[in-house]
Amino acid sequence: MSKNAISNSVIRRLPRYYRFLGELEKQGMVRISSRELSERMGLTASQIRQDFNCFGGFGQQGYGYNVKELHGKIGDILGVNAESPTILIGAGNLGRAIASHIDFHKRGFNLIGIFDSNPELTGMAIGELNVKGTDVLESFCDENKPVAAVLCIPKAAAAEAANKLVSYGVRAFWNFSHYDLKIAHSNVIVENVHLGDSLMTLSYGLNSLIEEIDE
Ligand code: NAI
Repeated sequence: MSKNAISNSVIRRLPRYYRFLGELEKQGMVRISSRELSERMGLTASQIRQDFNCFGGFGQQGYGYNVKELHGKIGDILGVNAESPTILIGAGNLGRAIASHIDFHKRGFNLIGIFDSNPELTGMAIGELNVKGTDVLESFCDENKPVAAVLCIPKAAAAEAANKLVSYGVRAFWNFSHYDLKIAHSNVIVENVHLGDSLMTLSYGLNSLIEEIDE
């Protein structure tokens, strides 16, 4: 099955498999059955087998899965070794937190530049990078060819910034800006992040729990 034919819900489970298997590998585990993996991950064994079958299946009958091999294969599928050149736009509170705390390298991206339109932030060190002004963004992109961008700017600024970035060759956006990039640019890959949505899901769960307790 080609990568494009894999359902989105399977793709969304892969990072969790990858993280879990990485932890098991660190603990020195060599092999694991789909039953044990399912118990540890709170999924059914058949779900796990179905997910892995989308990629040709990784296990061996009677043996289970080799943890290191499976971790490596899922990593390859996710592209964690790709080192895609990436820039971050908006070095405010959120941008600084993301640039300092997310290990891009481990996840297939190489953060090579941080940009902000506020000249007061030019030169500020964040990790190993210094913030650059947006006045040099185009020449930086010409020279370094970033293919991905993290948008940590307000929604009002995002449309113009995204248009420019697409024209400079950026093809993938990790979008925190609340601007719906996909409508204007159907030819790019966008991963929208809304922490507030996750919090509302928690609110729903909490309220359901409280109702159950009260019944
Ligand atoms: P902030 O005000 O601390 O930082 C925004 C930075 O973007 C500023 O340094 C500003 O100079 C810069 N900026 C504005 N327009 C720009 C442009 N065109 N090019 C380059 N830099 C530009 O705000 P904060 O707290 O960092 O949040 C940033 C945005 O992210 C906010 O609009 C907020 O709504 C959103 N946000 C989204 C979250 C999510 O889960 N998606 C979570 C938290 C914030």
